[in-house]
Amino acid sequence: MTELKILISRAQIAARVAAMGAEITHDFSGESVIFVGVLKGAAIFLSDLARQVQLDATFDFIGVSSYGNRPSPTQELQHGWDSTGEVRLTKDVDQSMRDKNVILVEDILDTGLTLTYLKRILLAHQPKSFRIAALLDKPARRKQPIEADYLGFSIPDEFVVGYGLDYAERYRNLPDICVLPRS
Ligand code: IMP
Ligand code: MG
Repeated sequence: MTELKILISRAQIAARVAAMGAEITHDFSGESVIFVGVLKGAAIFLSDLARQVQLDATFDFIGVSSYGNRPSPTQELQHGWDSTGEVRLTKDVDQSMRDKNVILVEDILDTGLTLTYLKRILLAHQPKSFRIAALLDKPARRKQPIEADYLGFSIPDEFVVGYGLDYAERYRNLPDICVLPRS
């Protein structure tokens, strides 16, 4: 496997995720939360974040895919995956979120289309509260006005892989977040 340039090291990730977990523990003191992970990219972040939260907690997962023609891996690398503009649900949550404290856990906030869509779906459950925890944010690419309540790192407009993030399903198991060269 080719050596990729590290953008955020495993040590930096661990420190930041611990701080995010402490913040969530503080904000929801005395309450229960449901972590809803967005498949598959958020799986690793969710498992680390949840272990830094000292609250009564449960997990659920939701799946999405871009609508219609998913861009080819090369297009995804060059332009992101917002070319079709729409997302669809491939897996719904397993339980009602009504009156629950929902924390939607996502790997990266890019154009914002995915989280805007998921927020609408989850708010329809009438949760007690709704928060977004995103490991990464590329604010330069935003098309929808949506922000994370808990954010790991704001990054420049690079295509990144590792720590759950993929390129054509590869690299999710890299322990650091690395930049994939666009050419
Ligand atoms: P959004 O709907 O444009 O905000 O897209 C968010 C989704 O795009 C994430 O869940 C990722 O699957 C994917 N994505 C966006 N940027 C990257 C990246 O740099 N690397 C890997 N996946 C990315
Ligand atoms: Mg992806």
